[in-house]
Amino acid sequence: MPSISASAPGKIILFGEHAVVYGHPAIAVPVEGVRAKAVVMARPTAPQGSVLIDAPDISLNALLADLPQDHAFSRLFTALQSYLEIDHFPAFHLRVTSSIPIASGMGSGAAIAVAALRAVGTFLGRPLTNEEVSLLAYESEKAYHGTPSGIDNTVIGYTKPVWFVRGQPVQFLPISTPFTLVIASSGIHSSTADVVSAVRRNHEADPAFSDSIFQHIAQISADAAAALQTGNMATLGPLMTENHQLLQQLDVSLPELDTLVEIALQAGALGAKLSGAGRGGNIIALVRPENAQTVADALLRHDAVETILTTIAATEG
Ligand code: MEV
Repeated sequence: MPSISASAPGKIILFGEHAVVYGHPAIAVPVEGVRAKAVVMARPTAPQGSVLIDAPDISLNALLADLPQDHAFSRLFTALQSYLEIDHFPAFHLRVTSSIPIASGMGSGAAIAVAALRAVGTFLGRPLTNEEVSLLAYESEKAYHGTPSGIDNTVIGYTKPVWFVRGQPVQFLPISTPFTLVIASSGIHSSTADVVSAVRRNHEADPAFSDSIFQHIAQISADAAAALQTGNMATLGPLMTENHQLLQQLDVSLPELDTLVEIALQAGALGAKLSGAGRGGNIIALVRPENAQTVADALLRHDAVETILTTIAATEG
């Protein structure tokens, strides 16, 4: 029996991380150059319901039934099974691999979930729509932190730039002028759950302070969306750097990330910020295409462990 494959891209948050958990807007775009891939094969000799999950990147090779209930794959398949109203899955082998850096703010968990859902849905004769994969992948996102905004599964599920507000129908963001980003990994793994919890504790301790920062970030996201739609790219870089300063005030940056932002700016980036939960992971820098390699080289000379150059294409939204 032939195998069935599907894949899903990584993502980055351009503006609005953390504020988005509190109902403010954020902007995220897919990063097509890095992908998660899922391959499903029937296991004709295995008993019904025997689902073998093989994810070498995270050293996982286990039967679904043996995983803890709160494991991302358990949550994902419980959600899929109840959504499709099936008693048992047929026996199959799911292999997932990914070139998306793990725990670095690029949505590797959501991309693995989306790729797996697409492949398994097709294998079961129920190919899933973008809306369905996004909704179901959200269930596995809860394994990474209890209150995900849903931005990762949305931008990856639909594979389009999004203007995202928690709990509201998805809105795609038109981008009138393509732009180039350097994504630089600090090499520091961070747990989204821990960083989101730390932000929540700070918010509980001083709601007025945190809310004023979230509101400022929301204004930046709105200004950035306008700039992206009109092609006013000159304002986009400074907005990024301002967003980074607000994330510093939320205490989700690290000296290592601040240094990478500084290095990018000194090397000629138009703006730079951390992207994702912070306290590790990546920074992103907006660059002129002709300067992209210079900025990437400067970052690599100063402790970035990896850089990805990506161009975000114009879209009609
Ligand atoms: C993580 O990619 C982005 C955060 O805003 C968390 C979330 O939106 O769920 C930090």
